[in-house]
Amino acid sequence: MMSETDKEHIAIFDSGIGGLTVLYEARKLLPSESFLYYADSHNNPYGPKSSLEIASYVKNAVEYLQQFNLKALVLACNTATSVVVQELRNEYSFPIIGMEPAVKPAAEIADGKKILVCATERTLSEEKLSQLISGLDAEDKVEKMALSELVCFSENEQFEGAKPKNYCKEQFNGINWEEFGALVLGCTHFIFFRNLIQSVIPQHVQVVDGNLGTVKRLTSLIETTALDYSRGIVYHESKAMADAGRFERYLKYLQELDQ
Ligand code: DGL
Repeated sequence: MMSETDKEHIAIFDSGIGGLTVLYEARKLLPSESFLYYADSHNNPYGPKSSLEIASYVKNAVEYLQQFNLKALVLACNTATSVVVQELRNEYSFPIIGMEPAVKPAAEIADGKKILVCATERTLSEEKLSQLISGLDAEDKVEKMALSELVCFSENEQFEGAKPKNYCKEQFNGINWEEFGALVLGCTHFIFFRNLIQSVIPQHVQVVDGNLGTVKRLTSLIETTALDYSRGIVYHESKAMADAGRFERYLKYLQELDQ
């Protein structure tokens, strides 16, 4: 029987609970793997912070995660990826899978119409996103919108009800949806609001995220484990874990969203 320290873990990192949406998908494709989820709750939210601050938080977290036997690391955070993924790849030998707003798949289904990329203010202002958009020759097709409050709503487990709904409506006020074919959820925290967002925008606007693409990329980079190990999820947090059960509650909520 393998001990906890012998096991190879796939680490999933986020500033908070957003990366659980990636963990949720990863468990479907990789049911026999051991996952280590890390939330940098002490420093959440990342979105309003500077690139320098975010880079230093993420580097500290990965330094901490290094003590575990890591098979791969998923930066399940668009903000962290846009700031520091390259530096981490230069430093560590295990595969590091980053995330970026799913502009490419959105462009494929937007039917020639515009795409609204929703993400944190940091992701929206980083060079990485501009390069992605210009690489697709989509500068005149993309509009950007920060939905920062959704990060706070989700950290407070407020996924439904008037507050997040009115917030989204206010942010979307003035958008001529006839011009748009797709909306990108470019922050993992936003996935919890997929249904809510879809309910306040017209049906023809397709809501797209990059979670499945990220998990497929992870799967292609690792050797999957034989099924006979006992697998599971361990949770770590940068702030003292006051409510250890909350991560499981979020996963349960995602399961309900899926139905
Ligand atoms: N979940 C993160 C992302 O995908 C960051 C949210 C935040 O900390 O502001 O960008």
